[in-house]
Amino acid sequence: MKIAVLPGDGIGTEIVAEAVKVLNTLDLKFEMETALVGGAAYDAYGHPLPEATLKLAMDSDAVLFGAVGDWKYDKLDRPLRPEQAILGLRKNMGLFANFRPAICYEQLVGASSLKPELIAGLDILIIRELTGDIYFGQPRGRRVATDGHFPGAEEAFDTMRYSKPEIERIAHVAFQAARKRNKRLTSVDKANVLETFQLWKDVVTEVGQQYPDVALDHMYVDNAAMQLVKEPKRFDVVVTGNMFGDILSDEASMLTGSIGMLPSASLNTKNQGLYEPSHGSAPDIAGKGIANPLATILSAAMMLRFSLNQEEAAQRIEAAVQKVLAQGLRTGDIYSEGTTKVSTREMGDAVVKALG
Ligand code: NAI
Ligand code: MG
Repeated sequence: MKIAVLPGDGIGTEIVAEAVKVLNTLDLKFEMETALVGGAAYDAYGHPLPEATLKLAMDSDAVLFGAVGDWKYDKLDRPLRPEQAILGLRKNMGLFANFRPAICYEQLVGASSLKPELIAGLDILIIRELTGDIYFGQPRGRRVATDGHFPGAEEAFDTMRYSKPEIERIAHVAFQAARKRNKRLTSVDKANVLETFQLWKDVVTEVGQQYPDVALDHMYVDNAAMQLVKEPKRFDVVVTGNMFGDILSDEASMLTGSIGMLPSASLNTKNQGLYEPSHGSAPDIAGKGIANPLATILSAAMMLRFSLNQEEAAQRIEAAVQKVLAQGLRTGDIYSEGTTKVSTREMGDAVVKALG
C-alpha cells in the first residue's frame, strides 16, 4: 500500500502530521513518501505541482493531501498559484468523483447554526462530479463583445458542458453509494434552464433503470440549496455537477458545525484516490498549533476504506474520533463551554490513544 503524503501549505503540514501519526498506529504496513506541493513547492522549485510530485501521486495507491494556498501568492500568474496543484492532480489522475460526507456528531449538535432537532443525527453524502462542467469547459476567455446587451464592451465567458459518458460514470458511482446506504438518491440539476443539465437529468434517469432498488428523485439546485437548510435530513445521497456540488457541499458542511470536521475523497476509475479535508490552508491560524486535525484524520479513514480496502481500520479510526469527542476534547473551532480545549497535536495524540 503506497501512500503519497502531500502536506502543502499553512495548516496543511500540521494536520497531515497528525493523520500520519494515526496511520502509523495501525497494525498495517504502508509505504509513505512525502513531497512538496502548492506554495511550498513553488518556493522550492518554482512550480506548485512539480513533475516529481505528480509522478509520486500517480504511482501511489492513494494521496493524503493537506491544503494549498496563501495570500502571499495572490500576485502570481494563475498557472503558478498554489491552487493549481490540486486542480492539476484532479485532472491528471482523472479524479472525477468527489465524496463529501456531512455527518453531525452527537457531541457537536450545539455547534451548528441550525436548530438541534433539524441536524441531530444528520448523515448525508454529497457526490460531486469533479473533472467536468463549467470549471473545465472550453472555450473560455475574455474578448470584446460583438453581440449581447453591450456590443463593443469587454466581456468574459466560460462554457458549461458534460458528455453522456461523463454523466453515466458519476451516476453509477452515486447509485452504488446509495445502494450501500439507505437506497435513496437525489440528483440535483437545473434542467429547467440549462441544456447541460437536461442531459444530466435524462442520463441519470436512464442509468437509474439499472438500479431499481434505489429510489431516485430530481431537484433543481436552487430548491436543493433551500431544502438543505430547511430540512437537511430529507437527503441521503446527493449527486450533482462540479459547480453546484462545490456550492452545495460547502453549504452542507457548515450544517454540521465546523469545516474542521469534514473529510473528502476524490476517486478515479481505478479506485485510486486523493483524500483531503474539505477546508483550505487557513493562513489566519497557520503555525499556531490550533487547527482541527480531525477532518484530515477522517480523510485518512476514507482512504483506508476506498483505496486501500481496509474497512475495519477505517471504522476503528472513526470510532476513535467519536471517542475523543465524547471525552470532551475540542480544538478551538468546535470548542464550547464545559469542554476541554486542546491543540492540534493533543487532538492527534488523543485519537492515537483512543485507538490503542
Ligand atoms: P479555509 O478553509 O482555509 O479557512 C476558512 C476559515 O476556516 C478560516 O477562518 C480558518 O481559520 C478556518 N479553518 C479552516 N480549517 C480549519 C481547521 N482545520 N481548524 C480550525 N479552523 C479552520 O478557506 P479560505 O480562508 O477561504 O482559504 C485559505 C487558502 O486556502 C486560500 O489560499 C485558498 O485558495 C486555499 N484553499 C485550498 C483548498 C485546497 O487545498 N483544497 C480548498 C479551499 C481553499
Ligand atoms: Mg469549495
